Amino acid sequence: MINIIFIANNTEQIRAQGKIGKSLMEAAVAAGINGIAADCGGLLTCATCHVRVVEPFAARLPAADAEELAMLAFTATPASPASRLSCQIILNEKLDGLTVELPASQY
Ligand code: FES
Repeated sequence: MINIIFIANNTEQIRAQGKIGKSLMEAAVAAGINGIAADCGGLLTCATCHVRVVEPFAARLPAADAEELAMLAFTATPASPASRLSCQIILNEKLDGLTVELPASQY
């Protein structure tokens, strides 16, 4: 398990844990994080699992592929350079302490 911090409303920190090998979205859903809807269940068709990844963790992630980049155009809250879809982030040891901001809305 690794530690994850979700930041809601730019201030509230919600601590959770996630299993290595699972996605950040799955960890968020398991932890009952309100700000992650994940309507498509990780099929990369909904963009309701949008997060902004805080450094240094963003730099530890593989770059978004073309499909993820295409879906980031459909987030309810406009995507920024730090934006990722959490269903595409696979947890590993290097991401212990992973900190992500939740967008204002997923719809
Ligand atoms: S859960 Fe639908 S795109 Fe990530």
